[in-house]
Amino acid sequence: MTPLRVGVVGAGKISGQYAATLTGLADVEVTAVADLDRARAQAFAAAVGGAAVRTLDDLVTADDVDVVLNLTVPAAHADVAFAALAAGTHVSGE
Ligand SMILES: NC(=O)c1ccc[n+]([C@@H]2O[C@H](COP(=O)([O-])OP(=O)(O)OC[C@H]3O[C@@H](n4cnc5c(N)ncnc54)[C@H](O)[C@@H]3O)[C@@H](O)[C@H]2O)c1
Repeated sequence: MTPLRVGVVGAGKISGQYAATLTGLADVEVTAVADLDRARAQAFAAAVGGAAVRTLDDLVTADDVDVVLNLTVPAAHADVAFAALAAGTHVSGE
């Protein structure tokens, strides 16, 4: 089966649980991550075994992202979700 390719936006506290869960799913691949704090994004990328660290704009328009997983703070949820939808990408919000 072709894996579902996930781009994660927001690499804060809750992202650790997502990293653990997503890396245990055979049909899911985390391909990209974005965070305003690049060091957090880099740490998350390492935790999932390698994902591209991108800006939000680059992540939502990337060819290797099927769905955006929005793990940002509530105040940023709408902006991130609309950016994904405007790019024609599915989005799921925490
Ligand atoms: N921490 C928990 O135990 C917990 C439990 C259940 C649900 N949640 C939910 O998960 C979501 C995230 O919570 P958290 O505790 O991980 O928060 P957090 O503050 O630890 O992390 C949020 C991350 O999002 C990043 N971010 C904010 N705006 C951004 C933007 N515009 N673009 C890119 N990155 C951005 C921040 O830099 C930060 O790294 C919230 O909606 C929260 O309610 C958290």
